Amino acid sequence: MLMNTKELLQTAYENNFAVGSFNVANSEFVKVVIEAAEEQNAPAIIQIHPNEIELVGDDFAKYVVEACKNTFVPIAIHLDHGATVQDVQRAIKNGYTSVMIDASHASFEDNMAITKKIVELAHAVNVSVEAELGTIGSNEGSSEGGADQILYTDPEDAKTFVENTGIDILAVAIGTSHGQYKHQGKPELKIDLLEEINQQVDIPLVLHGGSDNKDEEISQTYQHGVAKINLSTDMKNAFFKEMRTFLTENPGAYEPDVIMPSARKAAKDLVKQKMDLFGSTGKIKFYR
Ligand code: 13P
Ligand code: ZN
Repeated sequence: MLMNTKELLQTAYENNFAVGSFNVANSEFVKVVIEAAEEQNAPAIIQIHPNEIELVGDDFAKYVVEACKNTFVPIAIHLDHGATVQDVQRAIKNGYTSVMIDASHASFEDNMAITKKIVELAHAVNVSVEAELGTIGSNEGSSEGGADQILYTDPEDAKTFVENTGIDILAVAIGTSHGQYKHQGKPELKIDLLEEINQQVDIPLVLHGGSDNKDEEISQTYQHGVAKINLSTDMKNAFFKEMRTFLTENPGAYEPDVIMPSARKAAKDLVKQKMDLFGSTGKIKFYR
């Protein structure tokens, strides 16, 4: 079932688990996420980045909306890293249940002003809003981008920001980067800082750059307010690595064999593992 993102995440927030929010840019990944959620009895979010909708076109969103309506698991559809009012309007028109406005590169005041404007237009049509304070890093090859330098979220600023903008969910910077930590090693996440932020604000928090972190750190985040964990790279790597191997070993292969059994299974297994790690497996019981 297609569900309002704020309600979906409020339940996770109150019950100390996180919902995986997975980037999709084709129907394979939509199937991967929905089937994994059904097999794990887990809620999930399908998120689409502006680059991803550019790749597939607006009609793809209709397919996603239908697929989410037709499953028994609670699913929301989210705009990942919206950069402009146009991105947000496009997502709302396409039937997403939430939007992210990412003005984290702007000054604190400008970020607040832009976000406030988005809240006004999205809340008017019951669409939830995520904004970001501080910056997420960017690893080599990351398709979501990010900042050269991580600016950690300040807890006092977070309180002011949430109170002034009226956002529903806040993306925090506690040390993650988008993509894989190839050369620099995995970062140490600032769980103490997360605790402080969580004490200052009373809305669900979001962890971006969910791939390739230490499992023991990820499982601490949802004890301290993180209710949404964004994941793209790990899932896409699992899919394309398996597809590359399969195509090399079977150069004459054609659909459906190329896609169905191997690459989709590799990605689905990965997503199911992440649902276990995020604590969302079995949690659809809270939505009945
Ligand atoms: P990863 O690609 O590191 O999983 O990050 C995804 C993300 O944060 C999308 O917003
Ligand atoms: Zn992100």
